[in-house]
Amino acid sequence: DYPKRIFSGIQPTGNLHLGNYLGAIHKWTQLQDNGENVVFSIVDMHSITLPHDPKELNDNVLKMTATLLACGIDPKKSILFQQSTIAMHVQLCWVLGCITTLARLGHLPQFKEKSQTLKNVPLGLYIYPVLQAADILLYKATHVPVGQDQVQHIQLAQDLAFKFNRTYGDTFPMPRSLVNENASQRIKSLRDPSKKMSKSSKDSKSRLDILDRPDELMEKIKKAVTDCTSEVTYEPEERPGVANLISIHSMLTGKSPDQICSEVEGLNTGKYKLVVADLVIEKLTPIREEFSRLIKEPAYLQEVLKNGREKATEIASDCWYEVQHKIGF
Ligand code: ADP
Ligand code: NA
Repeated sequence: DYPKRIFSGIQPTGNLHLGNYLGAIHKWTQLQDNGENVVFSIVDMHSITLPHDPKELNDNVLKMTATLLACGIDPKKSILFQQSTIAMHVQLCWVLGCITTLARLGHLPQFKEKSQTLKNVPLGLYIYPVLQAADILLYKATHVPVGQDQVQHIQLAQDLAFKFNRTYGDTFPMPRSLVNENASQRIKSLRDPSKKMSKSSKDSKSRLDILDRPDELMEKIKKAVTDCTSEVTYEPEERPGVANLISIHSMLTGKSPDQICSEVEGLNTGKYKLVVADLVIEKLTPIREEFSRLIKEPAYLQEVLKNGREKATEIASDCWYEVQHKIGF
């Protein structure tokens, strides 16, 4: 029996949006505040599988640290660290890579999708799911909160844990995915509600960034695509644009879509947008303000990462020591 430990990683790329907040970070803070044993990693090694700008990556790590703290990640309760500062991630990745097959990696849907657009596919893009497995197993994590699109990667981590345990003796718990996003909870693009809100979308008006100013949030929500019907009803299939606004409202307040629809009966969708915009602004304003304060304290942010690194290293070292011993290093 292994103690419950939750591991989650986030890439330090792009601006985080409301979908990331409601679908991931907010849930992390809830786990943390419920007293769970949580390890959060800013997975910068995953951000170089495609060409990147070094200066930007470096800035983004501190920016992500400030954002996570502003969202409520508390370094006294959680371990928060930068992946690349702990070399054991790569060391364990190598060991796991030696028990992974090419076929297994080539069949992963994310790889198929991403590699299709490239003429020369980097090896990193191919093996990053193994690094992800190492990220998880190095902390003997029992639970991994992820989005739907990552479930296959957690299955790979499970397979590798199983294979390692069978070959070398019990070492890793089976990590279980905590899928934090079902289709109805997924926040959609404001411009095309058939797609999810995504930080990789080129159209910044399709997305509500966590650090957007109130006037930007208001403007984007006012321009969100809805339809010709003026009533506010929750019909995700027929009226995805309106349903998306209701989902945002629901996730911000904990109220059910039905409850919301009866509360706002009589408002047309135009007026309803203002209600949702006010709620979003109310939620994000303190986060944006706290971010602005923290980003001016780079020494403090570095200190948080340094302390996180020390705590993460303690757990990782125990595991790596055991692995080395078992494989005969
Ligand atoms: P993106 O797709 O915007 O690049 P990521 O894939 O990096 O975001 O996702 C980071 C986390 O945010 C994941 O846990 C994912 O489930 C969550 N997430 C991303 N987009 C959404 C969304 N539109 N609605 C809800 N959760 C989301
Ligand atoms: Na994604």
